[in-house]
Amino acid sequence: MNNPDLSTGLGPIELKNPVLTASGTAGYGLELRPFFDIAELGGIVTKAVTPEPRVGNPPPRLWETSCGLLNSIGLENVGLAAFLKDILPLLQKINTRVIVNVAGRTEDEYLEVVRGLNGNEGIAGLEINISCPNVKQGGIAFGTDPVMAAALIKKVRAATDYPLIAKLPPNVTDIVIIAERVMEAGADVVSLINTLKGLAVDVNTRKPCLATITGGLSGPAIKPVALRMVHEVYQALKIPILGGGGIMTADDALEFIICGAGAVSVGTAIFRDPKAPLNIAQGIKSYLAKNNIGGIRNLIGSIDLS
Ligand SMILES: Cc1cc2nc3c(=O)[nH]c(=O)nc-3n(C[C@H](O)[C@H](O)[C@H](O)COP(=O)(O)O)c2cc1C
Repeated sequence: MNNPDLSTGLGPIELKNPVLTASGTAGYGLELRPFFDIAELGGIVTKAVTPEPRVGNPPPRLWETSCGLLNSIGLENVGLAAFLKDILPLLQKINTRVIVNVAGRTEDEYLEVVRGLNGNEGIAGLEINISCPNVKQGGIAFGTDPVMAAALIKKVRAATDYPLIAKLPPNVTDIVIIAERVMEAGADVVSLINTLKGLAVDVNTRKPCLATITGGLSGPAIKPVALRMVHEVYQALKIPILGGGGIMTADDALEFIICGAGAVSVGTAIFRDPKAPLNIAQGIKSYLAKNNIGGIRNLIGSIDLS
């Protein structure tokens, strides 16, 4: 098979190939332009957008661990108005899918961003980051409670016609319940997984390595957990999944696709090699060609459990 078909879909979102950047790991995507033509990617997921500009958490807020990265960037971003004025017009000129990651501290903040994004060209979908703490409910993350997660997605669904991707936190006992509830509430796709809560300590000072004490763990350390969650959700619900967590190579990405992901997001790998998403897309193509597989869609959820 000389020219396998890399095109795929995430519910209503059509993609020319299955590789996207993961939110927050390549700024607004534009930061990768010096390294390669980002139109080669299936899509870009932007850094979170909140109603107002935010400076994020104090440093240190990135800490390398064995096989992973702890971060507590917080939601540093330029805010909705600057995103619409300065960034979206640049993204609109690039021939790839742009998915805007949306965050907030209250339901109203999410809704403000979603309404502000409405009516703009060049947005293929919204990724709703429901890992954020709900300040009106004592700081518990929206996405760790099925009722709170569904209530938020239902309101967002009513506020926009854009395709909705609910990005779920993995710090839960049963990911399938949360995935099921957000789909019932109107999400088109689930994104699995966000970072796992972690901690690192400096033994000389006995202080936590991050200023916020705990942070989100990403990178190869979390891949088996992410893969297990994609597998569980796909087997139970057969819904469109954007899979990710620790993808460094084409084989990593293929594992997610075989477990049921319709597309994948690449994050921490970009810190090691900014061209990683492009290399992964090319590696997937070579795998399909070598194994005589006509297209990526033939591979989605094809795990052999016999
Ligand atoms: C520095 C950094 C910033 C991140 N910022 C966001 C964010 O703004 N919104 C979000 O939904 N996820 C954010 N994430 C999570 C990633 O999008 C991704 O889900 C997670 O890192 C797992 O994938 P990876 O192991 O490939 O990095 C961030 C991750 C990192 C490392």
